[in-house]
Amino acid sequence: MLKNTVALVTGGASGLGRGTVQRFVKQGAKVVIADLPSSKGQELADELRGQAVFAPTDVTSTEDVTNALKLAKDKFGKLTSVVNAAGIAVAFKTYNFNKNEPHHLDDFVKVITVNTIGTFNVIRLAAGLIGENTPNEDGERGVIINTASVAAFDGQVGQAAYSASKGGIVGMTLPIARDLSKHGIRVVTIAPGLFDTPLLQALPDKVRNFLSKTIPFPQRLGKPDEYAQLAQHIIENPLLNGETIRLDGALRMPA
Ligand SMILES: NC(=O)c1ccc[n+]([C@@H]2O[C@H](COP(=O)([O-])OP(=O)(O)OC[C@H]3O[C@@H](n4cnc5c(N)ncnc54)[C@H](O)[C@@H]3O)[C@@H](O)[C@H]2O)c1
Repeated sequence: MLKNTVALVTGGASGLGRGTVQRFVKQGAKVVIADLPSSKGQELADELRGQAVFAPTDVTSTEDVTNALKLAKDKFGKLTSVVNAAGIAVAFKTYNFNKNEPHHLDDFVKVITVNTIGTFNVIRLAAGLIGENTPNEDGERGVIINTASVAAFDGQVGQAAYSASKGGIVGMTLPIARDLSKHGIRVVTIAPGLFDTPLLQALPDKVRNFLSKTIPFPQRLGKPDEYAQLAQHIIENPLLNGETIRLDGALRMPA
């Protein structure tokens, strides 16, 4: 159960973030859904009546994230957990020899800005609020969970920008865990494999079936609740810290 949890979930209106919001609320947590103003965050908050609130947030904006954290404090009195699930993907080759065109630098910068810098922006601002909590008997004040991807380790053709953005999240996990350790804040990253979210639902069934068959076992896409289940476990298990956990059915993406 997550009865004493107040969580801020970025990207909470869709996919893995949405699954996390739904599970956490069922488990008794209060949740701030931090997602873009254009997202379905308000609709979801309305469905969850009082257990969740929507904070229109661009994770790259200091002002937006500060406001979302203030909402957690004003509405629920504290913040104990963050789940960073906001993210975007692009697919371009480093150089397209058919068109004689290099990867657009803007696209590379955008993915790094949202995925890597956005994640760090939320962590750096949330740490202060989590640090205000009275520690439990173990000295713990809270937990920060990030979302990388298996593409951080075995990125495919066209994933230079996305893989770099997720590799940055894997790389910052340990130093941030060390930075925050004296204050009893744990930091853990999940590296999902292939999950059934709007990100992948855009693909034709044929492609989704093909992708599923590349997963050793179970041969299907992951469900958002399976991601949320791991996020819940990370919050509940006091020894998990400074680590990236693959959640992928033994998938190793081919070249
Ligand atoms: N679905 C997969 O198979 C898979 C695999 C590996 C990693 N991931 C990662 O998991 C995370 C969630 O992905 P998903 O599949 O649920 O995607 P999704 O597109 O369903 O959800 C992503 C959410 O992030 C929000 N978002 C985008 N930019 C934002 C910004 N600047 N500020 C705030 N919110 C923003 C979107 O509005 C959306 O609600 C992403 O970081 C993604 O890279 C997904």
